[in-house]
Parts: sequence; C-alpha cells; structure tokens
Amino acid sequence: MKIPFSPPYIDDDIKREVLDTLESGWITSGPKVLALEKLVAEKTGITHVACCNSATSGLMLLLHWYGVTRGDEVIIPAYTYAATALVVMHLGATPVMVDSGRDFNIDIDKVAEKITSRTKAIIPVDIAGWPCDYNKLFDLVNSTKVIKTFNPQTENQHKLGRIMVLSDVAHSLGATYSDKPIGNWGDFSVFSFHAVKNVTTAEGGAMCINLPSKEFNHAEVYRTLKLWSLNGQTKDALAKTNGAGWKYDIVYPGFKMNMPDVCAAIGLAQLRKYDTVLLPERRRVAQTYRNAFAQFDWAILPPMKDATGESSYHLFALRIRGINELQRDRMIEKISEEGVSVNVHFQPLPLLTVFKERGYTIQDYPTAYNCYASEISLPIYPELDMEKIEYIIKVVVKAYESTTT
Ligand SMILES: Cc1ncc(COP(=O)(O)O)c(C=O)c1O
Repeated sequence: MKIPFSPPYIDDDIKREVLDTLESGWITSGPKVLALEKLVAEKTGITHVACCNSATSGLMLLLHWYGVTRGDEVIIPAYTYAATALVVMHLGATPVMVDSGRDFNIDIDKVAEKITSRTKAIIPVDIAGWPCDYNKLFDLVNSTKVIKTFNPQTENQHKLGRIMVLSDVAHSLGATYSDKPIGNWGDFSVFSFHAVKNVTTAEGGAMCINLPSKEFNHAEVYRTLKLWSLNGQTKDALAKTNGAGWKYDIVYPGFKMNMPDVCAAIGLAQLRKYDTVLLPERRRVAQTYRNAFAQFDWAILPPMKDATGESSYHLFALRIRGINELQRDRMIEKISEEGVSVNVHFQPLPLLTVFKERGYTIQDYPTAYNCYASEISLPIYPELDMEKIEYIIKVVVKAYESTTT
C-alpha cells in the first residue's frame, strides 16, 4: 500500500470555486480574498483579517509594522520551521532562541530569562497545532518588570507599550485555548495556507489583528497591512480597472505580498467545510492513532486535548521513548520501505547551517533536540480510512520492533 504524507484535499466544491474564479474574468486579489478574510475572521472571533501570499510574508510584514529593525531582538523557539527565524533576520534583527517544553512548544519560563531592553517581540509557535500557554505568556509580557525593561522606539511600540506577541499559528487553525479560538490570542496571529496545511490556498497566509482595541483602530491597521502588502499602492488592480480609475499613487515603499483570488478560492471552499468535515476527520485519525499507540509504553503521544484547550491536529507527532536519532532514522527507512511516507518535525534551527554559522549551538537546546531525535510525524488527513490507518500503525510497530531488537 502507498500512503502519501499530506496530499491536498481537493473535492468538487473546491474545483467549482476555483473554476468560478477562472471564469469570472478576475483571478488576482479581489472578492474571493475578501470573502476568505471575512470567513477566517468569523471562525476566529475577531473583526479584521488580512490575507497575504504566505505566513512567512505575514510574519515579516507584521514585524516591520512594529518597527523591528537592526539592533532589536525577537524571541523565538529553537524548535520551529526556519521561517520563524528568517523573518527576524531579514529585518536586520536578531532571533533569540529558547528551548522547548515537554509539549514541543516554547518554554515560557525560559523566555523570561532571555528578555532584554532590546526585545521587541516574541513569536510563540503552536507546534503541530497544539496551542502555547498564552495566559502565561501574556502574564509575562504584561508584568511590571518586563514592561519596565521595554524600550519603545516607534509610534506603534509606544502605543502598545510592551513586547508584541506575534503568534506563529501556521499549524493551529481551528485549535482552541482557554475557550477562545486560536487567532484570537496573540496581538497578531499568522495562519499558513501552504499546501500541506489543514486549510490551503496552495501558498498563502492570513494575518489576524487582535491588538488592544483601546490603543489601536483595527480597521486602520487592516488598511495599512493591505496597502503595504501591495507595494504601498493606493488602488489595487481591480479598482484600477473601473472606468477612469486608472490613476494611483505609491504612498509607502511596500512589498508584493498579496494573495490572488484563484488561490483564495481553494481556501474558501475548504474553510466552509472545515468545522463540519475536515477538522473532525483529522480528529478521528488522531484519536485512532492515540487509541492504538496508547498500549505501547515506548510510544509518547502528542498533546491533543485537555482542560486548557484542543489541538488543530495538524501533525501527529509521535515520539519513541528511549531511541536515539540514528535509530529513529532507521525506523523511518523501514516505514518508507513499506510504502508509508512519514516526516520529522522539526530539525531544531541550531542544527541547520545558516544558524550554526551564526553561532547557535544545539547543546543549548537539549529538550528541542530530544523532541526532534525521537520524533516521527505520521500521515494525518481526512482521506485516511480505517484500513490505511491500521496499516500505518502496523508498519510503525513493526519498524520499532525490528529497530530495537
Ligand atoms: C511553524 C511554521 N511557521 C511558519 C511557516 C511558514 O509558512 P508559509 O509556508 O506559509 O510561509 C511554516 C511552514 O511550514 C511553519 O511550519
């Protein structure tokens, strides 16, 4: 049996929505993007969401909006995808990495130790779809000691008056924390709609605006983000096509980060059935894995649901107790030989050349390393029926037994 790791979910509704865009005479940013923004806002319980062409773009744009620049520091987990760090570096600032806790997510006690007068933002990441402890993080950034350390330089930094929490929620659309949906926690939260995500636009992202509403006008922030993601141009291409409306101005040296309608159409059709079909199906697969692996004392199961919240089931990050990196790699080879594609999330950033060259060393992040070294991400998506799930479980158990005996 051949089982891919994470194929995109494409059904007739999605094809129809894309076809509708293709036949509409308008394929780049327009009504479908606006409809997607509205739907993401509805699902996350906030008023303003701005779509862009990737989560990477969104994260970078928001750091830039906050005035993060050379000499500043941004705290990030060592255990994440490289984009979380690269966006900081692109602005000339320094990513300050923090080790993970036992749930893969950034260890908030260790965040406290890394805050300096140069810290402008923290980017927590909901790894695999499991929400960070946002209450604890906000208690920290709002504490008198940390607020006193904050050294604002720009108008937005003065207005917020503290370290900005920019949530990298690339994985966690549909997750909840403390009875509120993810997207409704960070000052900003950025979803990814990359091809392997729970909801996709092939490539794409969504910036959720959730700043304190006393200090910030969300509609204004939305307009700024849309303007800056379209070269700082006062009229988008659709507005320019209207009669004599060709004339525009460039009022800010912006970026080209807008999402096209033809991409938004995929996400729109997926998101319409996310709560009723796509997310419950992911939950079903995760629960089946959980029930099966719970009988093995070598299986460390990922967090899925507890009193604090519920995952989006983006990844099923299984860890194998007592194995080293080499044994894990051997297990993956054996699983692949049986036709099952698995993956590893993530190589901690200090293992990657670009970060090693800048002086980050893996020895400083032992929990991140241990999470990585024993981790195997199993396929998880709606099309996995019982026969396929049982096959995957059988193959994983066999690979474990033949690797360790
Ligand atoms: C944790 C995390 N952050 C950010 C990104 C970047 O997302 P995008 O590909 O939409 O730029 C990813 C992508 O996989 C990710 O896993």
